[in-house]
Amino acid sequence: MLSASPSWSLLYPQADQRAHSAELADAMQRVCDSGSYILGVEVAAFEREYAAFLGAAEVVGVASGTDAIELMLRALEIGAGSRVVVPAFAPSAVAAGVTRSGAEPVFADIERDTFTLCPASLDALLRSPRGYGVKAAVVVHLYGHPADWAGLQRVADEHGIVLLEDCAQAHGARWHGRMVGTLGRAVAFSFYPTKNLAALGDAGAVATNDAVLAERLRMIRQYGWRQRHVSECAGVNSRMDELQAAVLRVKLGALRANIEQRRKLAAQYDARLGGSRVVTAPRVRKGCEHAYHQYVVRAERRDALMKHLQQEQIPAAVHYPLPLHRQPAFGGSQDSLLESERAAEMVISLPLHPYMSEDAVETVCEAMERFGHA
Ligand SMILES: Cc1ncc(COP(=O)(O)O)c(C=O)c1O
Repeated sequence: MLSASPSWSLLYPQADQRAHSAELADAMQRVCDSGSYILGVEVAAFEREYAAFLGAAEVVGVASGTDAIELMLRALEIGAGSRVVVPAFAPSAVAAGVTRSGAEPVFADIERDTFTLCPASLDALLRSPRGYGVKAAVVVHLYGHPADWAGLQRVADEHGIVLLEDCAQAHGARWHGRMVGTLGRAVAFSFYPTKNLAALGDAGAVATNDAVLAERLRMIRQYGWRQRHVSECAGVNSRMDELQAAVLRVKLGALRANIEQRRKLAAQYDARLGGSRVVTAPRVRKGCEHAYHQYVVRAERRDALMKHLQQEQIPAAVHYPLPLHRQPAFGGSQDSLLESERAAEMVISLPLHPYMSEDAVETVCEAMERFGHA
């Protein structure tokens, strides 16, 4: 059973740490000995190495993924008086990042199959009175599945808005061969400890191919300084720590292999759940390579299934139970965004991480079957 299997005794953040513990200890000791703890050689090296991994011109390390969203908007001078479109089915961090920039988040619906921003819903929003003042959309590649970039770009071009990416859950995913994180004008990443590329604390980054934008981001993340003690523009403190950068350099070395392992385990789930009467397995759009930050199924009897899985000690979770347009902080709108609302009622994230065994996936599937027969 579950508790007897070593692969279940550790959840992802700790398993990821254990898998690299010797290298991490060396990297952290190196930082401790260096006398430099913030925005030093480790951050600069991580920025170069992660830019090379993505195939992006520039990566700017910041303190969190939420800050990355705020800072990319600030760098584009999108703030008070502007609106920014966010998919209604997404973590609240996305809307929080927009709010922190001074702009107002407005919500569009998602596509049923991929849980990502729906081009038709974006178009309808931009044509409606709520579309007034929209300057940009933050496209979230939710759970690691790339959004319909071509469809969204067509709508954005027609309405003259900027497309930005949120890749907090999609490190290593590809859209028609192109790495996500290189599609938008600027791109936010989170390295929160549960992410596919995970720090041992908070960290984030903005990637862009625009050198001028990158320079502005570097100023904004540290008080608006280009030159020390001279604030040229309004800035904040959102610096990346040397310790986190050193940790991320170690983990980056394993990212490709880890994503491959996630895909292998996801394929095992797909094969086992394909004919299920209880859940619908996730679909992958043609031309997309999923990064499987989460393996998310839909279930009509979601709450009953969650209860059953909890009783069987399966660490499943619901990401996310309340769509953003229903959240009190973001307007508490009663407008209907049907697919987002349906998703919030139906989704379950099944356990999936690169250190999990095939036996553990089988254990989850068997527990689901017992629910099917209950
Ligand atoms: C899609 C998405 N965007 C933004 C964030 C915010 O990142 P952070 O927690 O590093 O601020 C997260 C993570 O929580 C996320 O999953």
